[in-house]
Amino acid sequence: MEAKKIMLSGIQPSGDLHLGNYLGAIKGWVDRTEEYDNYYFMADLHTLTVRQDPEAFRKRALEQLALYIACGLDPEKNTLFYQSHVPAHAQLGWVLDCYTMFGELSRMTQFKDKSKKNADNINAGLFTYPALMAADILLYQADYVPVGEDQRQHVELTRDVANRFNGIFGETFKVPEAFVPKEGARIYGLSTPDSKMSKSIPEGCIFLMDDETTINKKVKKAVTDADTEKWVRYDPINKPGVSNMMNIIAALTGKSFEQIENDFEGMGYGKFKPAVAEVIIESLRPIREEATKLIVEEDYLRSVYRAGAEKASILAEKTLKDVYDKVGLTYK
Ligand code: TRP
Repeated sequence: MEAKKIMLSGIQPSGDLHLGNYLGAIKGWVDRTEEYDNYYFMADLHTLTVRQDPEAFRKRALEQLALYIACGLDPEKNTLFYQSHVPAHAQLGWVLDCYTMFGELSRMTQFKDKSKKNADNINAGLFTYPALMAADILLYQADYVPVGEDQRQHVELTRDVANRFNGIFGETFKVPEAFVPKEGARIYGLSTPDSKMSKSIPEGCIFLMDDETTINKKVKKAVTDADTEKWVRYDPINKPGVSNMMNIIAALTGKSFEQIENDFEGMGYGKFKPAVAEVIIESLRPIREEATKLIVEEDYLRSVYRAGAEKASILAEKTLKDVYDKVGLTYK
């Protein structure tokens, strides 16, 4: 039997997981469980680039694992772990810092954006973050890295760094490919349908742990469009707000846009919005309930992340040893 290709990705526990994370990333991971050998982690080292309250950070990171599982990621079939539990990330990260150029890092759009947003804390970690991300990926010889459009540049840099290192030392790293989901999975903010759903605009962001009342309130306030036509039609250019909500329904129920248009034929937005809220509430209910149950099962969660880190370390250590040998460090 041919070995399965390796799929790897991570999400930072920098904010509570939301519908955009679920539909844009985690749901796809779940769907691809059988086809690939999967490594999914909480990118907690990356989260330190922005100041965190330690207790809130720890709690959020644990809830993220509970939510990964509640979303359907089976820990028996996916290696789930914390980045910080596998020291090889930081170790290879340092080596790759030395093979990543200042000029390359300066061109990263996320660095530029984040430096603007955190002007009082432009730390070195924020700058070298893409080299750590390259280490995350290259340690596992990943074939595919499912990421959103905003991370494509970091995966491109990872490929450049891998090629550079391989060019000097011979075949060491698998050169990975970004695996960017099709447009359908891109979810925009309910209050800002021209930009991605984001935790930093909470009024337009449905968090996976939001209760019914909160979801109803957020959907009720969702932006519908200023065009004169007041019915439900898929047209992302002229009707971005309505099209985004159709996209959410389609992604959650598997219905086509045509089916959704038919379902709401002749009805105005007054009927559409409660139906959208209903679909979201019913789809997220089992996830929220399961996560609420898991979050108090501390022993279980600990057993999952320990087993995950142990399994991840096998591959990671192998790559790290090869790298240390090649660059001339003595590896005990
Ligand atoms: N930088 C990613 C983000 O902010 C998170 C991340 C860290 C990641 N390391 C990774 C994603 C490795 C994929 C692969 O979204």
